[in-house]
Amino acid sequence: MRRESQLLRVFVTRNLPDSALAPLRANAEVDVWEGENPPPYEVLKQRTAGCDGLLCLLTDRIDGELLAAAPQLRVVSQMAVGVDNIDLAACRLRNIPVGHTPGVLTETVADLAFALILASARRLVEADRFLRDGAWTTWSPMLLAGPDVHHATLGIIGMGRIGFETARRGAGFRMRIAYTARHVHTEAERELGAVRMDLPDLLATSDFASLHVPLTPETRYLMNQETLAQMKPTAILINTARGGVVDTDALVRALRAGTIAGAGLDVFEEEPLALGHPLMQMRNVTLLPHIGSASVATRTRMAVMAAENLLAGLRGAPLAHAVPAGG
Ligand code: GLV
Repeated sequence: MRRESQLLRVFVTRNLPDSALAPLRANAEVDVWEGENPPPYEVLKQRTAGCDGLLCLLTDRIDGELLAAAPQLRVVSQMAVGVDNIDLAACRLRNIPVGHTPGVLTETVADLAFALILASARRLVEADRFLRDGAWTTWSPMLLAGPDVHHATLGIIGMGRIGFETARRGAGFRMRIAYTARHVHTEAERELGAVRMDLPDLLATSDFASLHVPLTPETRYLMNQETLAQMKPTAILINTARGGVVDTDALVRALRAGTIAGAGLDVFEEEPLALGHPLMQMRNVTLLPHIGSASVATRTRMAVMAAENLLAGLRGAPLAHAVPAGG
C-alpha cells in the first residue's frame, strides 16, 4: 500500500486516540474533524468527497447522496457495532464494504445494561438526588424502597452477544432468564437455564425487559403502545440498543399511566434528548447519554478496530469485521 498511500485520502469524523490515528497517518493522508460535535451533513459530504476511505461514527448520516458525491470512496468503517445510520444498500450497490466493531464492546455494554437494571430498581439516581437536596432526615422503613433484582425474571429481547452477556450477569444475581431470539440459544439454555418465549409471553412474565436487538425496519417501534401494554405494571424497560426500537411517545404514556413501573434508557430516538422532553421530568426513569460502550479500554479498542477495518478496505483486502450482507 505504501507507494500508493501518498495518494490515499481518508476522512475521520471525530478525533480518535493516537493508537487509531497513527497507523492511518502512516498509510494515508488523514483529515480529522476536530469538532466536539459531529460535522454538519454538508461538511461531512464535502470532506468525504475526495476521499478513498471514511471512518465515521453513529452520529454521521451516510446515505446515497453522500456516496454519490464521493466517487473514489472504497471503504466505510464505523466505530460502533450498530450501523443503522448507514445506507447499507447504497454501499452494496457501489461494492463499498462497511466495517464495524462487534465483540469488543459486548461485555462493556452488558455491564451498563445491568447497571441500569440495578439503578432503576433500587432508585439509585433518585436516592443520590434526594440526599444532595438535603431531604434525608432519618432512616425510614420504606424510604426509597424498590423491587428486588435478585430472583426476579429478566427478559432478554434479542439473545445476541450483548443479550447473552446481560443474561449471564442476571444469572449471577440468581434471576430467571427468559429470551426472544430467531433461533434457540443452546448455550444460554444450558448454562443459564434460559427459556425461549415469544415476545408477548416474555413481556407478560418479565420484571425487567432488556432490549438487545439492532435497529432495522423489523425492529423499529418493537416496543409500542400494544407491546408496552403487555408488560407487567411492576416491570421496568431497559434500552441500551437503539432509541428507535421504542416508540417514545407510547413509552411516556405508559409511564404516566403506570402501566409499566419504570425505564432505564441509554439511547433515544432523538439524541441528544431535548431538555424539555417529558422523560426529563419523570422520577421513575433513569436516563444516560448513550454511554453503553464507554469504558476507556473498550472505546480505545473500538477506535483501533475501526482504523484496522479502514486500512484493510483501502488495501482492497477483506475487512476483519465487515457488516454481513443483509445488515
Ligand atoms: C453503540 O451504540 C454502538 O453501536 O457501538
